[in-house]
Amino acid sequence: ETLEMEVNHIMKGGYDHFMQKEIHEQPESLLQTMRGRVKFDRSPAKLGVDPYQERRVTLGGLTEHVSTIRFGRRIMLVACGTSYYACLACRQTIEELTDLPVTLELASDLMDRRCPIFRDDMCVFVSQSGETADTIQALEYAKERGALCIGITNTVGSAIARSTHCGVHINAGCEIGVASTKAYTSQMVTLTMVALALSEDSIAKRARRDEIIDSLGQLPEKVREVLLLDTEMRSLAQQLMKEESLLVFGRGYNFATALEAALKVKEVALMHSEGILAGEMKHGPLALVDENMPILVIATQDRMHAKMLSVVSQLRARNARLIIVCNKGDTGIADLVSERCRLIEVPQVVDCLQPVVNIVPLQLLSYHLTVLRGMNVDQPRNLAKSVTVT
Ligand code: G6P
Repeated sequence: ETLEMEVNHIMKGGYDHFMQKEIHEQPESLLQTMRGRVKFDRSPAKLGVDPYQERRVTLGGLTEHVSTIRFGRRIMLVACGTSYYACLACRQTIEELTDLPVTLELASDLMDRRCPIFRDDMCVFVSQSGETADTIQALEYAKERGALCIGITNTVGSAIARSTHCGVHINAGCEIGVASTKAYTSQMVTLTMVALALSEDSIAKRARRDEIIDSLGQLPEKVREVLLLDTEMRSLAQQLMKEESLLVFGRGYNFATALEAALKVKEVALMHSEGILAGEMKHGPLALVDENMPILVIATQDRMHAKMLSVVSQLRARNARLIIVCNKGDTGIADLVSERCRLIEVPQVVDCLQPVVNIVPLQLLSYHLTVLRGMNVDQPRNLAKSVTVT
């Protein structure tokens, strides 16, 4: 046992826990995910070469299948847990860049419903471990129905990587903490790269693709910047550690952020937390709001911003205890809030990648909550890193 402790200590590389190490590793893991795949520079126009053709996303495992996927009936994203939230975060990007219908399936629910799947469906199975039994079962089911099956996993040689027709490795590096952190952010980047690879030929989408590629290039730096919020997140955790519940509101790209933040708080800090689609607030959750319930609102600047400002005003009108994730220098928010409200200010990136930045302080928050509440960070009660039973 002492040897095992020793080895663990070395593997944690100066951090107290794997989860903490993996959160802080994200600038590097994101870089690894993009390495050799995204060509960022706009090289000066060469004779006879379209400069736009130079800005590409090359996913080796997918190149042969790009046209098949483009002409498919729909794209279906299948996963469990955190991997499912990565799919939810990127659904809109894939829809927008491919103009294909994109549906989302929790693997267990797909099987419970015996969801219809056809030969011209493109099914994408997303899994950190590549070994999740529910996802494998859904994969077998889709294969029997003749769909093209694409695997996105973080584990080379895993069951899902082996039994899919083609796929992309997440390349986030080995993740040991049971709660997924760096794999989540790298899954979002991988799915964004898939959307970019599938839309390479589209002239109409060029400007949007350029904007996303530029933002991908800045992402590791922005994540490094947001990691500086560590001490602030610890102090916020101190403020929240005795609470029974935490509500998290988000919408659009950041509905996934709300769900994933709530999952992290539940699974590691063992505190009740619920991610809520802000658009549904008045259809029920508003009843829970009083002056005691802590509420985290994700209100970074995207197309949903005005709606999120109105959510904040409605919550303020009920004297709610607010914590707001917003972009640095957002005066609209600053004007709205009172001294009872805490702001978590994050750097801005392109709207569809903002969830990658936004989740990081919330990972830190759940990490510190766990430590302060004295819970097991790397092996939460009743949970396993890879769930190999259905
Ligand atoms: C388990 C883990 C989660 C993970 C989920 C899906 O529940 O505790 O962290 O998100 O499985 O795992 P996968 O390996 O398929 O991404």
